Amino acid sequence: MRLILYTGKGGVGKSSIAAATAVRVAQLGRRTLLVSSDLAHNLSDIFETRIGGDPVTVAENLNALEVDALKEIRDNWGPAQDYFAGFLAYLGMDDAVAEEAALLPGTEELFLLTRILKELESDQYDAIIVDCSPTAGALRLLTFTDTACTKLNRLLNLERQVLKLMRPVMNRFKAMRHIVPSDKVYGTFEDLIRDVGHLGEILKDPEVSSVRLVLNPDRVAIAETRRAFTYFGLFGFPIDGIFVNKVLPRELADGYLHDWFALQQQLLESIDESFLDVAKFRVPLLDSEPIGLPPLSRMADGIFGEKRPEDVLSVTKPVSIAREDGQYRLGFWLPNIAKHDLNVGRKDADLILTAGNYTRVFSLPDSLVDREIGEAKFDDGRLTITFEAAPA
Ligand SMILES: Nc1ncnc2c1ncn2[C@@H]1O[C@H](COP(=O)(O)OP(=O)(O)O)[C@@H](O)[C@H]1O
Ligand SMILES: [Mg+2]
Repeated sequence: MRLILYTGKGGVGKSSIAAATAVRVAQLGRRTLLVSSDLAHNLSDIFETRIGGDPVTVAENLNALEVDALKEIRDNWGPAQDYFAGFLAYLGMDDAVAEEAALLPGTEELFLLTRILKELESDQYDAIIVDCSPTAGALRLLTFTDTACTKLNRLLNLERQVLKLMRPVMNRFKAMRHIVPSDKVYGTFEDLIRDVGHLGEILKDPEVSSVRLVLNPDRVAIAETRRAFTYFGLFGFPIDGIFVNKVLPRELADGYLHDWFALQQQLLESIDESFLDVAKFRVPLLDSEPIGLPPLSRMADGIFGEKRPEDVLSVTKPVSIAREDGQYRLGFWLPNIAKHDLNVGRKDADLILTAGNYTRVFSLPDSLVDREIGEAKFDDGRLTITFEAAPA
């Protein structure tokens, strides 16, 4: 089973390349699902077919699905949504408005994730290709499986204990009935947290999951991709390919586009240098939009040639643990970030890593929990944290 996610800046060609990938994987005989988790869905336009919230077959072995977050919430939120709607109505909100408002911010992401998990566990597919939202949204989506879940879980446990004590009293007052969530509401939350946490584990397993970054050879996209590379690494999501799309073909090097072409050559070199260990694919600017099966199939020829796009294209280990002379070394591959933007902290069994605006709470493995941090070093994009020998 393979789960492959494409992300990048808006307009760089994520949907096109994800679709071309899915078309090729299906042609190679794998049962394939192409999922759009971008709220601005493009797949219907790319396949010139109506694609919606349930999978439709768009080619042999190929289904496509544009996740409808609101529908997912309505279908799955059930008790929790009723609770919130009841609560808001109790506060004086009109019923219909309350129902809409009960779709809390952030829940869209949660339900995109649970839908992906549902398809993954359906055993109907050998490969699921996800056309993600642009980089920041995709990061938010994936990191939801990490930080948000841990926090929400702690909060729920705490609240549940407090409310357990208060519920008998509060239930006696009719007006307060809506403020006290039932066990069923908690159950829904707990299922959700468990599912999303489970998906987080899958997303960090490099044999199953790969994140692929799509960019164009321009300075803005390169800068964004460098940061994305670091942040995905920070959270332990394996990146196995960088796709440079809309590269001007050599035929266009003369005339009006001469300067553009020359600049792109420099930028392509700088992309090669920025992502040394990662497989890179150059995709030419085509002479028309890749829309419909034959153009997508040709696009896949150009990108992958004889390669199988569902294979792990290259191995980068964002997080590693090594043991030497009784000491453990925990390594994070965080290129393209300045030392002063990086912070390492610790709270009990959690290591707290901050890079720029992102913080990862990294749960230390059992073997490291009892050990003191010896030193933290940052060299050449590699953060190495040494843990002292365990206390006797
Ligand atoms: N290699 C390419 N050559 C020509 N047009 C392309 C190429 N890749 C994508 N496009 C076109 O560029 C536009 C944006 O691509 P799209 O895949 O929708 O980007 P994204 O999903 O990243 O927003 C679309 O019109 C698409 O058909
Ligand atoms: Mg798109």
